[in-house]
Amino acid sequence: MTPAVEAKGARIPLVGLGTWDLRGRTCARVVEQALRMGYRHIDTAEMYDNEREVGEGLRASGIPRNEVFVTTKVWPSHFAPRELLRAAKESLAKLRMSEVDLLLLHWPNPQVPLSETIGALCKVKADGMARHIGVSNFNAALLNEAASLATEPLVCNQFEMHPFLDQSTLVSACRDKGMAVVAYSPIARGGAKNDAMLNRIGKAHGKTAAQVCLRYLVQQDVVVIPRTSKIERLEENISIFDFALPDAEMSEIASLARRDGRIVDWSFSGSAKWD
Ligand SMILES: NC(=O)c1ccc[n+]([C@@H]2O[C@H](COP(=O)([O-])OP(=O)(O)OC[C@H]3O[C@@H](n4cnc5c(N)ncnc54)[C@H](OP(=O)(O)O)[C@@H]3O)[C@@H](O)[C@H]2O)c1
Repeated sequence: MTPAVEAKGARIPLVGLGTWDLRGRTCARVVEQALRMGYRHIDTAEMYDNEREVGEGLRASGIPRNEVFVTTKVWPSHFAPRELLRAAKESLAKLRMSEVDLLLLHWPNPQVPLSETIGALCKVKADGMARHIGVSNFNAALLNEAASLATEPLVCNQFEMHPFLDQSTLVSACRDKGMAVVAYSPIARGGAKNDAMLNRIGKAHGKTAAQVCLRYLVQQDVVVIPRTSKIERLEENISIFDFALPDAEMSEIASLARRDGRIVDWSFSGSAKWD
């Protein structure tokens, strides 16, 4: 069992499987294998067009539904209240589940009043379709606004986080509110494996650069959701609880942050785009 973080009543396993860009049989197979290997947290979204396969993989794994933490996300073009309720129902139908563990607003959408969207998100929870709710890609100001509007706890903010990007301000904002931090692109879309420092530190621990990168985050109680389409990497990405990085290495890794470290830089403007 992977360790978990607790936030506002939610218990979120520290490692989850990211599924963006995993499609069809590959997606179902990777999800199934991940769960058999010990993963207990899967991250999907209506936008990834793979909720059906995520559900299939989960059922094929034989792991009971209540032992797996399943997150999905509503796409911003569905943030008007009636649309949001419909999108949540559709996600559940595709997953073939009666509820998800966590439902997130995928990106902020300035075209729909946040009060209406948060109201609808809270209703999804109150109606029993999501055990917990939260947000993704919200900055500190929007996080404040969302938290003050919500009548149900917002348990997390999911955003880009890895050693090449300094997210300390946003992490503090989440911590102040008791919200969990979920890091997406936690191995910088695979970029971690090319970094000399991460490789050097990894070598000293008998680990890979990707494992050092993930360990760096979970050691700060940050949930990571690395994605891989390769079965052999599933094991690698979850084997990060049998070593620890001393403070000096943690500081060294933090120094990798740079101004242009962001990989995913996109605001919702009304036109459908990836992720
Ligand atoms: N909320 C949002 O807006 C948002 C945005 C982006 C992502 N996400 C979520 O976060 C998840 C993870 O982020 P991501 O997919 O952007 O990037 P990521 O997990 O940092 O990196 C995935 C890439 O790294 C490679 N990789 C995986 N494990 C590796 C290892 N041990 N060593 C070397 N390379 C490795 C994968 O290739 P192979 O397949 O070849 O292994 C893939 O190309 C997504 O899948 C999605 O669920 C959410």
